[in-house]
Amino acid sequence: MLPTEIPQLNDYSASSVEAFFTQLKTTFDTEAQSANTAEKVEALRVKWIGRKQGLLNHISGLLKKAPAETRRDVGMQFNTFKKYVDLVCDIDARKKLWDADLAEIGIVIERPKVRSIDITLPGSVRAPGIPHPLLKTMNEIVAVFHNLGYSTALGPQVESDFYNFEALNFPPNHPARDTQDTLVLADQQAKPSRDRLLMRTHTSPVQVRSMIAQAPPIRIVVPGKVHRNDAADATHSPVFHQVEGLCVDTDITFSDLKGTLDHAMKALFGSSVKTRFFPSFFPFTEPSADVQISCIFCAGKGCRKCKQSGWIELLGCGMVDPAVFASVTEARRKLDPADDAYNPAKITGFAFGMGVERIAMIQHGISEIGHFFSGDMRFLEQFA
Ligand code: PHE
Repeated sequence: MLPTEIPQLNDYSASSVEAFFTQLKTTFDTEAQSANTAEKVEALRVKWIGRKQGLLNHISGLLKKAPAETRRDVGMQFNTFKKYVDLVCDIDARKKLWDADLAEIGIVIERPKVRSIDITLPGSVRAPGIPHPLLKTMNEIVAVFHNLGYSTALGPQVESDFYNFEALNFPPNHPARDTQDTLVLADQQAKPSRDRLLMRTHTSPVQVRSMIAQAPPIRIVVPGKVHRNDAADATHSPVFHQVEGLCVDTDITFSDLKGTLDHAMKALFGSSVKTRFFPSFFPFTEPSADVQISCIFCAGKGCRKCKQSGWIELLGCGMVDPAVFASVTEARRKLDPADDAYNPAKITGFAFGMGVERIAMIQHGISEIGHFFSGDMRFLEQFA
């Protein structure tokens, strides 16, 4: 009984022998096509041309019975088929053939001499990224206010004079503008002053943008990058970050502002931290205050970090000035002449703004603001 792969051979006429090999080749090709791994190719080789059980052994036995006058012809066909099987089963030969084919169309494959992989070699480990320490602090501040029901609002870094100054009650040429040394875009003299573009000096313009877009109640935090024409030193950078806050509703009072910021400072620096509010001035808040926290380095006793005062100044805040509501109302009335959403007789609000670098420096005891922007991995890695 011959294996089923071997077709019937009725006689040794040239046409029968040719048909025999054609069918054999079809069977072999089908099997070779699914032999797509080195192991499968090796199994195919053993099955067809293995020294003992190979199918070709059976076939050569079969062909030996051919009559003498056809034996030469039959033998040649057998050899051709055997060479074919040999070649297909020899992986290296297949690769070389393949490489030669590729070389013909100009592709040169460099095959490594040693094909095995050293599994004992350590892999190349790529350190996962981490949030930049400033982003981390910014996210922490924002999260404190998200937990109080605030949502996040964002605004552009290239801002118009109107949003950055005028609507916030800094009139053109008013000396209050000197407190924020501004970077302005060149060649804008032809524009009316309120339309001239500048790099925003604070995140407060987003207060105005948000109120124009939305009627009260408003509770937003605004994280973002701001720019000032300041010389860089240990605590100043011309580019820095702020988180702004704005709350507008009926019956918002200064004690709401105090309670909110006292809570936020305790959430950021620990529950033993005390806050105090110092009279200050901003054109867009009235009254205004600077918030100080008890020194977290000496617990208020007085040290080098707090200049022996026991207090560290952290942020500016105040009740939204009615002049800001007036600018907002003027802008809203261009869309709806009857708009009265920001009538200061009906609503009040508070706002605050804090510097992210300053807070991060106090949190981590960093004395040079430049570290945040140097890109030095020895610094950044410490926040992983
Ligand atoms: N925008 C002010 C600054 O950059 C901070 C501030 C914001 C003060 C909101 C009061 C209210 O200095």
